[in-house]
Amino acid sequence: MARINRQWLLATRPADFLTPANFRWNEQQVPALNAGEVLIGLTYLSLDPTNRGWVNEYASYLPPVAIGEVMRGIAIGTVLESRNPRYSEGDRVHGLLGWQRYAVSDGTGLTLLPKDPGFNPEVFFGLLGHIGMTAYFGLLDIGKPRPGETLVVSAAAGAVGSLTGQIGKIHGLRVVGIAGSDDKCRWITRELGFDAAINYKSEPVSQRLKELCPKGIDIYFENVGGAILEAVLDNINLHARIVVCGLISQYNSPQPVPGPANLGKILVCRARMEGFIVLDYADRGMEAMTALGRWHAEGKIRYRVEVVRGLENAPTALQRLFDGSHRGKLIVRVED
Ligand SMILES: NC(=O)c1ccc[n+]([C@@H]2O[C@H](COP(=O)([O-])OP(=O)(O)OC[C@H]3O[C@@H](n4cnc5c(N)ncnc54)[C@H](OP(=O)(O)O)[C@@H]3O)[C@@H](O)[C@H]2O)c1
Repeated sequence: MARINRQWLLATRPADFLTPANFRWNEQQVPALNAGEVLIGLTYLSLDPTNRGWVNEYASYLPPVAIGEVMRGIAIGTVLESRNPRYSEGDRVHGLLGWQRYAVSDGTGLTLLPKDPGFNPEVFFGLLGHIGMTAYFGLLDIGKPRPGETLVVSAAAGAVGSLTGQIGKIHGLRVVGIAGSDDKCRWITRELGFDAAINYKSEPVSQRLKELCPKGIDIYFENVGGAILEAVLDNINLHARIVVCGLISQYNSPQPVPGPANLGKILVCRARMEGFIVLDYADRGMEAMTALGRWHAEGKIRYRVEVVRGLENAPTALQRLFDGSHRGKLIVRVED
């Protein structure tokens, strides 16, 4: 049976925000498989802030998506046909399958997921997959928390931030979140157990951090950058750890962004600032999944997922990560 693929191709590079105008919809027949290849029907696509970095002209931790190429995206799908001995029809797989209905793969970078019918893609993307691993390894491996310390998390009501703060509570930290609305601040304090929250759009962040972190800040889980980083640096302790997970406030900037004016705080506080990419932890995924799954079963960790229906809506939905209007981990249900 001839299958028609539906795809979003990158049409132009954005000068600032990545909008639907930067993409082109394409429909074409799925080619016959060569030896070693599998045909995957995508079911769910993850929308991530890092998608913005992938379409810049210069490489980041992955090469840029080329103009005319299918937009890169993390997704899960089902093997529909296989000419690769490692995969069988019906296998559930995860990988960089792209913004499309069908993907042909030679198996490179594919991960097999459990086949059982109880598998829930929302749990996978919201808690157990790359989002959970980012929060888990970023906080525990890079942040090295000790009970009684103070953790500050930015983009605290987002997918990674909301899990990070809860993992911090499980490890006995005082946790203060920074988020972009009163509603988000209420959610993380009343429902997720953060000790306090700051609405960075309506409150003076540095002053509020001084009030809410009376013993200073030991760990900052950085998702945002810019003015929020500067406000945190004002309040760090001796030997503070700054975990650089993301810098979303800078991803759409058409100009190089100035560094924090108070970088000297790193020196005088003998602080450590360290970036990481979750891909580096691929071989330890089971460790994070086991811990996160157990905490969830014990009622110690919660997550929120927002599902957008239809691949055609992916470019519009992606913008919501940058205006903050989504709630929790944003995914697209691809199949009809
Ligand atoms: N290092 C890694 O391997 C890795 C892996 C995954 C994610 N990340 C990074 O982790 C961060 C969070 O990712 P996520 O997937 O969990 O997304 P998310 O937090 O669910 O969504 C992004 C949030 O960022 C906030 N935001 C957007 N623009 C902002 C701005 N200009 N200033 C301040 N806040 C802004 C918005 O929340 P508000 O309403 O609160 O503004 C928005 O909801 C991102 O920086 C991402 O790149 C890194």
